Amino acid sequence: MSFYVTTPIYYVNAQPHLGHAYTTIAADILARHKRQRGEDVFFLTGTDEHGEPIADEAHAQGVSPQELADRYAERFKALLPRLEASNDFFIRTTDPEHERRVQQVLERVHENGYTYKGMYEGWYCPRCADFKVENEILEGNRCPIHEIVLERHQEENWFFRLSAFQEPLERLYAEQLDFVMPRRHYNEALSFITSGLQDISLSRERLKWGVPVPWDPGHVFYVWFDALLNYYTALGYARNGDDLTSRYWPATFHLVGKDILKFHTVFWPAMLMAADLPVPQHVFVHGFLLGADGRKMSKSLGNVLDPFEVMAAFGADALRFYLVRDVSFGADGSVGMDAVRARYEAELANEYGNLASRTVAMIHRYRDGVVPDVELDPALTAEFEGLPKLVSDHLDRFDVTNALEEIWQRVRRCNRYVEERAPWQQARDPEQAAELETTLATLAEALRALTVLLHPYIPASTDQLLAALSAPELGYDRAALDSRGGGRTIATLEPLFPKRA
Ligand code: MSP
Repeated sequence: MSFYVTTPIYYVNAQPHLGHAYTTIAADILARHKRQRGEDVFFLTGTDEHGEPIADEAHAQGVSPQELADRYAERFKALLPRLEASNDFFIRTTDPEHERRVQQVLERVHENGYTYKGMYEGWYCPRCADFKVENEILEGNRCPIHEIVLERHQEENWFFRLSAFQEPLERLYAEQLDFVMPRRHYNEALSFITSGLQDISLSRERLKWGVPVPWDPGHVFYVWFDALLNYYTALGYARNGDDLTSRYWPATFHLVGKDILKFHTVFWPAMLMAADLPVPQHVFVHGFLLGADGRKMSKSLGNVLDPFEVMAAFGADALRFYLVRDVSFGADGSVGMDAVRARYEAELANEYGNLASRTVAMIHRYRDGVVPDVELDPALTAEFEGLPKLVSDHLDRFDVTNALEEIWQRVRRCNRYVEERAPWQQARDPEQAAELETTLATLAEALRALTVLLHPYIPASTDQLLAALSAPELGYDRAALDSRGGGRTIATLEPLFPKRA
């Protein structure tokens, strides 16, 4: 089975901040999990490099748009290995292969009769690269997202006949009830559609920084269409000489923040239909990370956290874990360094890290590093019954937070099991040798299975622990408890989550 997951492509007009890392991390968790289940995964991310957001910032900095794009694209690219992101390709919308394919697809839309030339006038946010409709505009004529004052724009544009897709979109929503997830965002998108769709601009005449319209080269395509098409074009050239389109299109999940819902749930499927292409299976919409001031973290509000800094302090695993654990995925939530530290110490170090250290240490101390070859304790194994399925059911709905909660309850259960069984007392009494072996074998196996399940969330530390446990296999069939592990010699283990200054 193929599984194609994408992140939005990031604007290259500023440094990446935690909000950008967030979408990438969530997509990576799904990609890794699906690979464990043996699915044929393709995970795409990249950068959005055309349009006003970039042209304006380049102008402000006195550099060319391409120089600006090159500089920040490097930062976004460098962030990925630091985050342990396992993306299969990184697309830049200035790739000539992308530009050529954008022209081909939109030429098709033009030939199919869904374009016309007309005059557009409206309130425009250059940061969103979007015209705002009356009921979205904040007091003082400001952008609802960036809170900057909107500009009045009037220009001759090519238009896309979005209005022609009112019925086809309503049909899509009726047939694919999980086209947009979670449900409240499905409702939001559907009500946007049913309230009546107006045609939207497809090109810009004043702007030069974009993909030229092939049938009218004085215009460039509106950056959003150039950008949305990345999900499709990338498959055509990501693997030299091997077109992956039929293997992965339509996408399984587009993961997006709620600020870009309208583009992905309305404009994008309409555009695909206009080009005779299949629409994606799901768009999953997540919430915002909020800064210390309780507002959406964003460059223009000056309340951003730098993911490189958080990782320098606590590591990539801690950042990944923290973001999906502290903020329920789908909802908004405040984030901050103190809260990262709190989760790191209370959960990663004191719960999971400690469970790992003491299990490994006791097997060395009491059994010379060999996992006892005995039956597992049903009192504990019963609590792991069905766990892999519970976790994968949550993840199939992109519920990365509740999947992690299911796993974490078992981490805590294992720590209670250690306290209940008190192996240090069993070790003092030769008559309890068999009991001790049961305790150690059960803990070793439970820890191993939990670590397989935790792998998508905290890949670096789980790799380290599975190697120490001499059980590096990551396949999902290894996420359940079994007794095959007896007799194995394990290595020693450095603390997975050491004290941080
Ligand atoms: N370039 C467009 C997307 C084009 S996709 C065809 C764009 N770029 S962006 O850099 O502004 O945002 C990219 C993603 O980062 C969006 O999903 C956005 O929601 C996410 N986030 C940016 N700030 C965020 C938070 N503070 N919190 C959570 N996600 C945030 O939009």
